[in-house]
Amino acid sequence: MRIGVFDSGLGGLTVFRALRNALPTADLLYLGDTARTPYGSKGEHTILRYSRECADFLCSRSIDALVIACNTSSAIAIEELKKDLPLPVFGTIDAAVGESMRGENASIGIIATHATIAKGAYQRSIAQKLPRVEVIAKACPLFVPLVENGILSGPVLEATLDLYLAELREKRLSTLILGCTHYPFLRPAFERYFHGEVRLIDCADAVAREVAGALTQEPWTNKAVTGRSEFYVTDEPSRFDYLARVFFEQEQPQAVQVEELATHRPCGI
Ligand code: DGL
Repeated sequence: MRIGVFDSGLGGLTVFRALRNALPTADLLYLGDTARTPYGSKGEHTILRYSRECADFLCSRSIDALVIACNTSSAIAIEELKKDLPLPVFGTIDAAVGESMRGENASIGIIATHATIAKGAYQRSIAQKLPRVEVIAKACPLFVPLVENGILSGPVLEATLDLYLAELREKRLSTLILGCTHYPFLRPAFERYFHGEVRLIDCADAVAREVAGALTQEPWTNKAVTGRSEFYVTDEPSRFDYLARVFFEQEQPQAVQVEELATHRPCGI
């Protein structure tokens, strides 16, 4: 089984790591669109086009399933990709909301990119599943560039935490959904900021469980596979490799740079 995973940059590695743990023998192909990150501050049309190009690149490498390891792309593009691609497509949003339903919820906060919050996909999913719960959604666009630049502590991060989260801390939330796959890199900082009093939800394990549950039913799980990991990026790979190695304990990514995403042949065409 070969699974394609994409994100605008490093964030999807949090999902990749959970997938590797859940499916140790699957081949996993990761694409980080580092030349065009962040997605979350861009318009819907652009995010849709970028997401299609990432999917097409991975499909051109004979994957059996696609995991959108990016909440922004999941919010904007999942319906289109499910419609267009002849393979199972998984996203992050329902997985994260499902995970948040496992505990007590008086009020749920969602932090995510501008595009994810504006699209309202989290708000709708929670309203459907937990209609009585109060929901507070907050766009936090500066967290992604901080993670992409390896700034996981220090005064700039502290000021950014105050800028976005002071209001949420006052609300005394029961649960906070980390609605961007970059945010788990900042988990220790969030824990500290909320004094460990808020349950933090990230979608990585929930997505991996969903993918493993769905795909182990399929016949292609018997295909000979090696448990290989391949990493691709659209910009110069050294920063990605460095930060990815800091993040992973076992994987030692050596990403290959892909020049032109737009030229790859779409799935099945
Ligand atoms: N990690 C992504 C997400 O989950 C993308 C963030 C961005 O590129 O702005 O939303």
